[in-house]
Amino acid sequence: MARATSRQVLIRLFFASTVGLVLLLAVTIWRQLHPAWGPYQVAYAKLLARTTGQRPPWFTPLEVKQIHLPQLGRTDRCTTCHLGVDNPKMADAPQPFRTHPDYLIHPVEAFGCTVCHGGQGMAVTKQDAHGFVKHWERPLLPKPLLAASCASCHEAQAHLTTPPAPLTLTPSPILSPPGGEERGEGVGLAGTERLVRGKQLFDRLGCIGCHAVRGWGGPISTDLATVAYKPLDEFDFRYVRGPHTAVAWNLEHFKEPQRVNPGDPANHVPPTPMPNYQFTEEEATDLTALVFSYWREEVPSKYRVAAAPLTPDPSPSLPLPSGERDGVRERGRAVFQKYGCVGCHGIEGRGGMKNYNASTGGEVPPLTYVAQGLTNDQLKALIREGRYPTKADPRGPTPPLWMPTWKDKLSPEELDDVVEYLVSLYPSEMTLAAGGS
Ligand code: HEC
Ligand code: HEC
Ligand code: HEC
Ligand code: HEC
Ligand code: HEC
Repeated sequence: MARATSRQVLIRLFFASTVGLVLLLAVTIWRQLHPAWGPYQVAYAKLLARTTGQRPPWFTPLEVKQIHLPQLGRTDRCTTCHLGVDNPKMADAPQPFRTHPDYLIHPVEAFGCTVCHGGQGMAVTKQDAHGFVKHWERPLLPKPLLAASCASCHEAQAHLTTPPAPLTLTPSPILSPPGGEERGEGVGLAGTERLVRGKQLFDRLGCIGCHAVRGWGGPISTDLATVAYKPLDEFDFRYVRGPHTAVAWNLEHFKEPQRVNPGDPANHVPPTPMPNYQFTEEEATDLTALVFSYWREEVPSKYRVAAAPLTPDPSPSLPLPSGERDGVRERGRAVFQKYGCVGCHGIEGRGGMKNYNASTGGEVPPLTYVAQGLTNDQLKALIREGRYPTKADPRGPTPPLWMPTWKDKLSPEELDDVVEYLVSLYPSEMTLAAGGS
């Protein structure tokens, strides 16, 4: 009895699995014939017929289209769905069929798509191709950030070369040199305006005082060239309101660093000392584009566009104000800017940057009055050696900002100049008497 039953079970199992297999085969074949991208090709064939006044085809052969780019180390199949990118007649077509804005400048066959957009070139479903899937670290860049990708080939023209050349009177003579237009320098390559603006903010606000870029710069936090490569699972999204993407995290962090990274003061973790600059949406986007532009695709040299006439002049020959002393002071101001002293001590050394639990009023000290308490030699020694602030509350967290050591970075001449500049910040007798600042 028991034996017969188990044989029956076996027979049923056999039939069931055979039917299962046949079904699976049927589904596989059906899916081969009806791929997810199939309807796009059918729709495009109809659209194409309509624009040329022909009858829509009764049958559309389907094929995976791909652009093979061994030199760029990729194969992009995006045109399997984005079928009209290089057809000028598709300028008003709905996506994914529309003509690409600059298909003549960067021909599709030579550039593909992912080198600029990100995404997963080999994939042929929308979700996978656009890269919004686990373990794909480079999903499509949102449109406002696309300028970030230009740097892989146009770095020189977008003026992103670091370290920055010394800055003088204007916030960023490299990027918008006085009279630059006449010299054909302008504000960089069309389409990279965001990067140019981002770099201007970067230079003016002295981000380099806290952050290095490719190893050059301050020791307080991350090298900004690594930010775009940070894996998604290393982000703390607890305080982020928007989507959980690297781009959204950075945008929100620029606008409100202390909301996104409040720390945990009760457990000795101070809130982030990254200053809240009250950036507008546009400014935050410019800086996010800049930070993401440090992601570089591996591109052979023939794809990289040199910009000989645009290379920043290492010693901008701006006319210095007359008088030896003024000249020295302006050079000192440029040093203050170049090394990012501004990032911690504020514009013109006015201070105001928060430094949690520092005995100097919870802020980085302003430098307006340093000439009062310190001789030039003492100032030089202090700048050379750096200094850790003392805690306001001895049981509280260590203040996150300190005065770094500059002896390996500043040349003796730069040190002389910057001290001269600091001394010049001390208000004159007249402004003091008038009670001014
Ligand atoms: C399976 C079809 C399909 C494939 C493959 C595909 N896309 Fe798309 N894509 C679409 C559709 C449909 C849209 C229209 C907007 C939407 O539905 O999201 C779109 C929209 C876009 C947009 C505009 C996005 C936006 O924010 O509005 C970009 C950029 C884009 N695709 C780039 C790519 C790139 C790059 C690839 C290749 C890595 C690719 N796509 C592969 C179907 C596809
Ligand atoms: C050289 C860089 C570059 C390449 C290569 C490139 N794109 Fe673009 N693409 C851009 C830029 C920049 C824009 C945004 C233009 C603008 O601001 O209107 C854009 C816009 C788009 C849009 C419209 C997005 C929208 O929201 O309106 C789609 C879709 C798109 N690209 C798909 C593709 C596909 C598919 C390919 C490959 C065949 C491709 N792109 C190749 C840079 C590029
Ligand atoms: C993979 C490399 C690559 C990427 C990425 C790339 N470009 Fe280009 N681009 C080139 C090459 C190569 C040329 C042709 C230069 C020439 O003909 O001298 C070019 C030409 C141009 C031109 C026309 C040349 C001129 O001086 O007017 C513009 C504008 C341009 N690119 C803007 C962009 C923008 C904006 C982006 C980012 C969205 C971008 N490019 C991304 C390689 C690239
Ligand atoms: C006073 C020092 C200081 C200055 C100046 C400063 N930052 Fe920061 N920044 C930090 C610290 C510390 C962190 C790490 C803690 C955090 O995530 O907020 C940080 C984090 C960041 C991050 C996120 C890094 C990551 O690991 O994901 C970016 C991007 C960034 N800063 C960019 C900038 C830019 C651009 C500027 C100039 C506009 C700037 N910072 C100015 C101290 C500073
Ligand atoms: C990462 C932030 C940071 C950067 C960048 C920075 N400083 Fe400081 N600096 C501080 C802090 C914090 C102190 C206070 C140390 C203390 O409390 O003892 C300080 C103190 C000073 C002092 C002494 C002020 C006083 O009242 O005693 C001088 C002078 C000074 N810095 C000059 C500079 C110069 C010049 C640069 C650029 C070459 C610079 N700092 C860059 C954080 C910074």
